[in-house]
Amino acid sequence: MGSVSLKIGDGTARFRRATLCSSALHLVMLVSVLTTNLFALYAFTYAPKPSAYAIFHSVRNLSVISEHVAAILREIDSSERRLHQIEREISGYDTLDPSLPALPPELKLFLTRHPLPLGPDSRSKITEMVSSVAHSCARSSDILSQFMSYKPNVLCPTADSHLPQKLISRGCEPLPRRRCLSRTKSRQLLPLPKSLWNTPSSTGAAVVDKQMWVKSRGKNDFLIDEVLALGGGGIRIGFDIAGRAGNFAARMAERNVTIITSTLDAEGPVGEFVAARGLFPLQLSPANRFPFYDSIFDLVHTMNGLDEGGVSGMGQGQAEALEFLMFDIDRILRAGGLFWLDNYVCVNDERKRMVTRIIERFEYKKLKWVVGEKADSKKTLVYLSAVLQKPARG
Ligand SMILES: *[C@@H]1O[C@H](CO)[C@@H](O)[C@H](O)[C@H]1NC(C)=O
Ligand SMILES: *[C@@H]1O[C@H](CO)[C@@H](O)[C@H](O)[C@H]1NC(C)=O
Repeated sequence: MGSVSLKIGDGTARFRRATLCSSALHLVMLVSVLTTNLFALYAFTYAPKPSAYAIFHSVRNLSVISEHVAAILREIDSSERRLHQIEREISGYDTLDPSLPALPPELKLFLTRHPLPLGPDSRSKITEMVSSVAHSCARSSDILSQFMSYKPNVLCPTADSHLPQKLISRGCEPLPRRRCLSRTKSRQLLPLPKSLWNTPSSTGAAVVDKQMWVKSRGKNDFLIDEVLALGGGGIRIGFDIAGRAGNFAARMAERNVTIITSTLDAEGPVGEFVAARGLFPLQLSPANRFPFYDSIFDLVHTMNGLDEGGVSGMGQGQAEALEFLMFDIDRILRAGGLFWLDNYVCVNDERKRMVTRIIERFEYKKLKWVVGEKADSKKTLVYLSAVLQKPARG
């Protein structure tokens, strides 16, 4: 009784640096918590001596107490609002204010609140919808403004083909809706399975490797058939993280296994190339949670996707970023499914230990675990290859 807690915003603090601002915020928070708690303590511990008269007295005085409580609640409410405001200012939410004159009209339109399509929600009392735009977009408002400056209902501008990728890499996603028509050329595509290894040159010059996974070049190279056998014939669908040109998916397609290839990298229209092969490309930025349901994949494969994943702004290769990624990989794998870490290049020994430590925490069964070295032109690199089986749990 008498403990009062403050909920700030949606509970996810977004303070990037320990700036003066955030220290001040912490101070304000601390003072608010202390004062409200003292108020509460005073209100709830103040009680007359327990005589029959006093009890009668305090019952009569309940209204006084409830007035106290109401005052405390009002205090909490206003502190919470103030804190929320400070948080918004620090995170840069308000810089995307639709009333700012400098914003392009299409962006303003996008940011304007819209009435709920099916009318106000009677339970939550919500009447309008806020456009889904990442708060980090505000930090790239110049690129965003460039991206959103276009004429609606006609062909999209050509000059900005790299802007979406730039915005995505800065954590500005989902991209604000665009009302221009995408440009597309018709091209000759081959039927499956021919299309797997014969792509029209117009779809770009991604690297098609015809050796990998069918011809071993070292102890770190596992063969596809070997790994499929480890899965006991139960490998039907899989996900290749940062699978670039889709070579892995192509080899798997030959074995009737469907692989979705995510293209985390921004090396041109890789997705188009993968699709031209008759494979499924998925454009996905590192900050994204995988858009899949829990426990659905028989196989998750990645080469150096481990270094590219995580939360943007957190810094690639950070332990936390890797942890986020591993938890998501674990989430989408089914029990008994395989995680194939394929020729992962460890930048140094510390990195190898960190990756090992994080992976081992998930207690997968190590079906294969090979640490090898390959001499580069400059130095010797440490490679880690593993096939791990997810246990059933829960
Ligand atoms: C309520 O409590 C106050 C002391 O805080 C006292 O002065 C007052 O007489 C009480 N009122 C009633 C109606 O008992
Ligand atoms: C793939 O499926 C096709 C059609 O069902 C079948 O003819 C072929 O043998 C299968 N290939 C493999 C490698 O299982």
